[in-house]
Amino acid sequence: MARNNKTIVVAICGASGSVYGVRLVAALLREGVPVHAILSHAGVYVLSHEMGYDPQSRFQDFLAGYGADTKFLKNLTVFSQDDIAAPAASGSFCHAGMVVVPCSMKTLAAVAAGYADNLINRACDVSLKEKRSLIMVPRETPLNMIHLENMTRLARAGAVILPAIPSFYSFPGTLEALVDTVVARILDHLGVVHNLAVRWGD
Ligand SMILES: Cc1cc2nc3c(=O)[nH]c(=O)nc-3n(C[C@H](O)[C@H](O)[C@H](O)COP(=O)(O)O)c2cc1C
Repeated sequence: MARNNKTIVVAICGASGSVYGVRLVAALLREGVPVHAILSHAGVYVLSHEMGYDPQSRFQDFLAGYGADTKFLKNLTVFSQDDIAAPAASGSFCHAGMVVVPCSMKTLAAVAAGYADNLINRACDVSLKEKRSLIMVPRETPLNMIHLENMTRLARAGAVILPAIPSFYSFPGTLEALVDTVVARILDHLGVVHNLAVRWGD
């Protein structure tokens, strides 16, 4: 089902792979989907390290360089992990799904423990209790037993565990195309219509 008119919440944490979060937000905006983006402190650090983001600049301006159509940037609202009173902190805010991408093992652990000490953890907790779609995109390797148990716990609670593991069968020729093999699966799970990646059988 296409749900391209309701807000999607995207949290970008301090795991490696900021580009997954950036390209997801850009793709959602391109499809006309309103986005509430939440950046953790570590997420801002890794974004600056991996993609040259200037923490003093607006995330909106940065996104314009990554394929987010400027005419849709008005649909983007950006929050810090400290904005604990943001809409996504409340179950009364009806969003169409939340994605944590990339998701660190720390945020994974906090959500698995129900430890809602910042906006990201709280919004995940709310998504689970309200039975809204919650997609966690963890990035770590190798995984220890604590990581695996936290993922299992979250899957049991209703989250989709969609690891940042790109695929190669469509012969992606660029880094962006490789990243989009993951972004496309996230969009599919959100029910957002897109034509980002080649589908098997097409
Ligand atoms: C360059 C860099 C890369 C990192 N990559 C990962 C990673 O892939 N996975 C992970 O779980 N943590 C990673 N970390 C550690 C997290 O940033 C750290 O645990 C942080 O507390 C996560 O906080 P957050 O979940 O609030 O963003 C990385 C840190 C840095 C500086």
